[in-house]
Amino acid sequence: PEKMDLPPRPELFDFHGVSMTHYFTDNWENIQNFQARPDDILIATYPKAGTTWVSYILDLLYFGETSPERQTSIPIYERVPFLDIAFPSMDTGKDLVDKLPTSPRLIKTHFPVQFVPKSFWEQNCRIIYVARNAKDNMVSFFHFDRMNKAEPEAGDWNSYFQRFLEGKMVFGSWYDHVNNWWKKKETYSNLHYMFYEDMIEDTGREIDKLCNFLGLSPSAEDKKLITGGVQFDNMKKNSMANYSTFSAMDFKVSPFMRKGKVGDWKNHFTVAQNEEFDEDYKRKMKDPTLQQLGEH
Ligand code: A3P
Repeated sequence: PEKMDLPPRPELFDFHGVSMTHYFTDNWENIQNFQARPDDILIATYPKAGTTWVSYILDLLYFGETSPERQTSIPIYERVPFLDIAFPSMDTGKDLVDKLPTSPRLIKTHFPVQFVPKSFWEQNCRIIYVARNAKDNMVSFFHFDRMNKAEPEAGDWNSYFQRFLEGKMVFGSWYDHVNNWWKKKETYSNLHYMFYEDMIEDTGREIDKLCNFLGLSPSAEDKKLITGGVQFDNMKKNSMANYSTFSAMDFKVSPFMRKGKVGDWKNHFTVAQNEEFDEDYKRKMKDPTLQQLGEH
């Protein structure tokens, strides 16, 4: 694992109306001045919505054929740098992006839409947004915060549940995040909005849609290889995709590739929590297409 000198867990604070930790605000000025290129591809998600899965698919689509050694020697978080991040004793995400030798550059962000550097919009970059049903997203984030020392303390499940509903998570409210990214589609057409549950239902079909959006036409054989390579069990044992080389995470508490399922919330939510959640969801989520993210 990479050597990382981490201070105690960071605290949440309000940053332009969004809960954040300093790891994602320390490099703010530089990030806001980021210069995008027209062929940059931004992968945007609320944390734990399937970022790594889609990042890996894109990496294979673009570079799986041409650079096999990339697949065996460079971890996914270096191939698809996390623009927002500034960790001690590591290059910042922005520096990693600036150093990327490849074209197109694949870039990851968890920023709510209003935080995205304006250069991406000006250059009309392709943007892929992945959303995941709220309940599973919450459960996945809970286990992630438990095991990742760069995140605020998760606390117990009941308090975590309340904090999620209040939007006091790193990168802010799930509800604002998925809603505001969805609304962006009205004014920005180069945005492909997709769903984790659809990927689970039919990975091949969702890869086809991605290829259509990206203007790619892989051979049937390549597509089959990619669809197989990105199955949960294969990614879980792939040390370049499973974050086992990232030392801030304690897999003894919970692995990064945890379950990869739809509906694990049923093992966590009490009946009362589920009712409270559903009531609250109806109040916050008015868009008919996004209703599905409260189900499953
Ligand atoms: P779980 O904690 O529910 O297992 P992100 O990459 O945005 O941090 O999301 C991580 C979540 O996506 C985890 O969810 C992880 O297991 C799941 N995931 C990663 N790769 C996957 C795959 N190939 N298939 C299904 N789920 C996957």
